[in-house]
This record gives sequence, C-alpha cells and structure tokens, in this order.
Amino acid sequence: MCGIVGYIGKEQAAPILLDGLSKLEYRGYDSAGIAVFNGTSIEMTKSTGKLKILEELTQGGATLPGNMGIGHTRWATHGSPSDINAHPHFNKEHSIAIVHNGIIENYQKLKKHMEKRGYEFLSETDTEVLAHMLDYYYNGDPVETITKVMHRVEGSYGLGIMFLDQPDCLYAARKDSPLIVGQSDKGNFIASDVPAVLKYTREVYYIQNEEIACLKNDSITFFNIDKEEIEKELTTIEWDVAAAEKGGYEFFMLKEIYEQPKAVRDTLNPRIKGNDIVIEELGMTDEDIRAVRKIYLVACGSAYHTCVAAKYVFEGLARIPVEVDLASEFRYRKPIFEEGAMAVIVSQSGETADSLAALREAKNNGVRTLGIVNVVGSSIAREADNVIYTWAGPEIAVATTKGYSTQLIAHYLLAVKFARVRGTISAKEMTEMVEALKCLPEQIEFLLANKERIQKFANRYLATEHVFFIGRGIDYAISLEGSLKLKEISYIHSEAYAAGELKHGTISLIEEGTLVTAVLTQDDLYQKSISNVQEVRTRGAFVLAVTNTGHTEVEKSADYVIYIPQTNKYFTPSLAVIPLQLFGYYISLGRGLDVDKPRNLAKSVTVE
Ligand code: AGP
Repeated sequence: MCGIVGYIGKEQAAPILLDGLSKLEYRGYDSAGIAVFNGTSIEMTKSTGKLKILEELTQGGATLPGNMGIGHTRWATHGSPSDINAHPHFNKEHSIAIVHNGIIENYQKLKKHMEKRGYEFLSETDTEVLAHMLDYYYNGDPVETITKVMHRVEGSYGLGIMFLDQPDCLYAARKDSPLIVGQSDKGNFIASDVPAVLKYTREVYYIQNEEIACLKNDSITFFNIDKEEIEKELTTIEWDVAAAEKGGYEFFMLKEIYEQPKAVRDTLNPRIKGNDIVIEELGMTDEDIRAVRKIYLVACGSAYHTCVAAKYVFEGLARIPVEVDLASEFRYRKPIFEEGAMAVIVSQSGETADSLAALREAKNNGVRTLGIVNVVGSSIAREADNVIYTWAGPEIAVATTKGYSTQLIAHYLLAVKFARVRGTISAKEMTEMVEALKCLPEQIEFLLANKERIQKFANRYLATEHVFFIGRGIDYAISLEGSLKLKEISYIHSEAYAAGELKHGTISLIEEGTLVTAVLTQDDLYQKSISNVQEVRTRGAFVLAVTNTGHTEVEKSADYVIYIPQTNKYFTPSLAVIPLQLFGYYISLGRGLDVDKPRNLAKSVTVE
C-alpha cells in the first residue's frame, strides 16, 4: 500500500509534498519520489530507501521549485525496490507525470498493447503502463483521457496526475484504493490517507470509485467516469494525528484485520483467469509440476501455521506428500531430500533469519525453492528460485492477520493448480474451487460485520488465565493460529491441541470454567469433534465453538457458537480464523495492552 500526496496552491509544493509523505511513513515503504511543475517543465527526483534520502537529495524540496506537484512513497508490488521503479513515472516526453497506489491486475496485457504501439518501458512496475496509456489517449482533454484509461484498466488505483499543458490543474482518480482531496485557503491537496493533509486542513472530500478530481489553486471539480460533473460533500476530520495514521482505527491490528478482504482479493484476482489459476511468477511448466515428488513447507510462527493447514490441502487435493517444518528446526535435522523435492518458504517479512537459513539449506542441497512472501525485494524473495508475492500491503502490527490470510490464499492457489495439472481434480472441481476462492473476501467481510458478538464474548474472559484451542485435521491448524493470536497479544497462557490428543494428558488441566475453543469445520470429523467437546464439557470447561453455518448440533454441547459461512472444506481456515483474530484482539484491548507492540516481540525476527 503506497503513499500518495499532491498539492496545488500559493506555496512551494515540494516541502509540502515531503512533509505529507513523512506522515504516511507508517505504511512502510522502500522508495519515494516527487515531481513538481516549475512553470516550464515537470521536474522529478526519486530514490530507493527512506524518505530522508529524498529530503537530502532535494534539499528539503528547494531543488524543485514550483507550486504544483505530486509525491509518492512506494510499497513495492510489481518490480523490486529501485530508483527506476520508484514513482512518479513519466511518459516518454515527460509531459505527463503519475503516481499510483494499488495493483493494475491486467497490466501485462496492457503493457503488450502499448509495446505494440511503440512504447518503451523503463521500469518493471504496473504503474508505468498508465503513464503511456495517458499519453496514447491524450487529446488535450485530461478528464476524457483519464476516463478512457479507467475504462481499460482492471484492478485498484489511487492516482495523482499532472499534464504539462495543464499547468493550473492537478488531477486525481480512484478505484478501490483510498484517495482524499483536502481543501484549504493555502491551496488544495490529494492524499492516499488523511495524515498527509491534517497539518494543513481538516476539510476533505472522499473520492469514491471511478471518480476524477480536478484541483486548481482555489477550486475543486469532480467528475464521474462518464465525464459528468458531480457534487460532493465536504467532510470535517475530527481525528487527532495519531488516530489518523491508523485510518481511524485504535490499533493497526484492527485496521489490518479489516484490510483482509482487500488483501485476499488483491492476492487472488491477478492469478485467477476465468476458471483457471495462472501463477506466472511460479516459474514452473506443467511438466515441472508433474515432476514434483515431495513438498517441504517451512516457516515460523503464524506462517508455519499456514503450512500446517496447507499440508491437508496439498495432500488432499494434489496427492503430493508434504513435510511441514519449523524453520528453526529444519536445517538442524539434516533433512534428507529425495529426487523431485521442492521447498516452499513462507514469510511475511521475507527477513526471518530461521526461514532464510532454511531456504539456503534447501538450495545448498539442489532443491527447487519457492518463496511465499509479502515484502517485495526482501531477502527470501530475492534468494528463492521463484517467489509468489502476497499483496497484503505493509503489515505494521506485530501480530500478523492479513499476512497470514494472504499466505493461505497463496497455498490454496498452488495446491489447486498442482492438483489440476496432475489430474487429481477435474476441470469441474477446479471451477467450483475457483468460485469458492472468489467468495472468500465477501465472506470475510460478512464475519467482520458481526464483530460485536465476539467483542462481547471476549469481554467476559479478560481475567481468564488459561485457554485451550482444539480441532481435528485442518481445524487443528486453525487452532494453532487462534492460540498464538491470543497469547502473543494478551499474555494469557493458551495451547492448541489436536482434539483427539487432549485425553492423552492435557485434559487433566481442564477444570470448572476453563475456556476451550473448539473448531469444527470439517464435515467428516464433525461428530468426533463433538465428542471431544463433550469430553471437556463434562469436566467443567466452558466451550466456544466455531463451526459452519447449519451445523447446529454442536449447540447441544457447546456454550457459545460462532458460525462461519459455507466454503470448500480446504478453505475454511480463511474464515474460521477471523473470529479467533478478533477474539485475541478484543481480549488484549480489554486488558489495556499495546495490541500492536506486544512485550518481548518484534515484527520481524531477523536473528536466530
Ligand atoms: C505472528 O502473529 C507473529 N508475528 C510471528 O509468529 C510471525 O508469524 C513469525 O515471526 C514469522 O514471521 P514472517 O512471516 O515475517 O517470517
């Protein structure tokens, strides 16, 4: 998720742009740039690294005089962090400059079209294709030109655009990526988020999907995608700056829980073509996929929990033997790699020392390696033979949520693709699974809309000291993540157990009032799981059950039931985890803890 700012008014633009970008620093970024119209040309400076470097290069903005400009901090999705991939991007003549936040899902196709028309690309980004398309369609009418591009682009975008021959107007357009317009007596602003403008104004317009804004020194005009002028309401921002950085949420963790539908959609959509799954970055032919004899899934923490779930998916669908390893154990057990082995290293940060070491262990043994990573250009992403990026955007809270959810999506896409190529599922089954995957974002939204029930339940357990999470099969993997989410941010002792294992010792810990969370999403294991619920209930446990809509039988055994929408049995972790994330969040919140920065923990464990 990148940061965008734009300004037009009486003041020098560059210092305002730099200041605005510094307020978006929390979004995480790997490069930054600004472009300013100086009266005769559009001049630009951009570089990798922190904003400080850009401030030094532009001497606080002094090297770029002018009162209209755009700026950008980049969270790389397409193309590694580099000067050339940093925004803004120009058309060839430097008569159009653009900054973009979002993902152009059909950019490969659009890029091919533009190359056929003689356009040359300098960067690896999806954004650059927009600069050339604006150039191609430009007829002197910026609004008409922008709408032509919007009609052809699939995906999400928040755009800031300058046209050299339109020196008194700054343009903005939006679809799915947030963009606001700020109004003040000093001039007018665009920004991807409120904090960038709060120093100058609290009066903002929220650009809605497929709307365009034209900002002049002292006026702002809005258009819809049919080029019709539209009226919009001005909103006064009441937040303080700290709250604004979290988009109005109290903690980044809740913000990121709520970003999961978009993160899942952004990770899914570019890889679903009709009813087929196309993972271009996989770097494997169908023959390569058929030659895989064993998959090692290796990670730490929550990423490891996605691997525990993925084992069921890969073995259930693609019938490929899978070994799941904690990265911190992997290299020390001297794994024996057979012919046809493949190692998948899963990491949100791409910098986890143990996971990086596991990757190197596999590579040193001649094993094909694939990364599932969120941070573009990170060590694991760079060193793996191939990498599938999870397009979750920057994850700030130490407790991962959207990082975890998008890792699951990457696993599902891989497993279904492998199963189809190896013929272990039919075309019809693949179509049904692709349809189920497409429904996940809305189903997550549905669960998030019903958070109050979980918040109320959590508030009854703020003082609890021990919580157990149990489940069978893939529900055990979900229990692992639910348990970690709770303990790492609430400091309450919690354990996850394969439900059938409890009676082999741990059940001795169950006493009157012990909270046990039971996950029951697998039809074929439902009855057995109910028996395990009854085992703990008869020993005094209070049972919270998470199960599929319609599975009401569990109400006879559990004290509190949360239902999740029906989906393919292999995809239930994406839904069952939502109430468990919220449960951990509200317990931590209720205990007055720093949800985003729990004690003793770091966002990325870059040491062994
Ligand atoms: C999960 O909430 C924790 N933040 C932690 O377990 C994390 O998943 C683990 O450290 C792995 O991090 P990575 O995905 O960046 O490699």
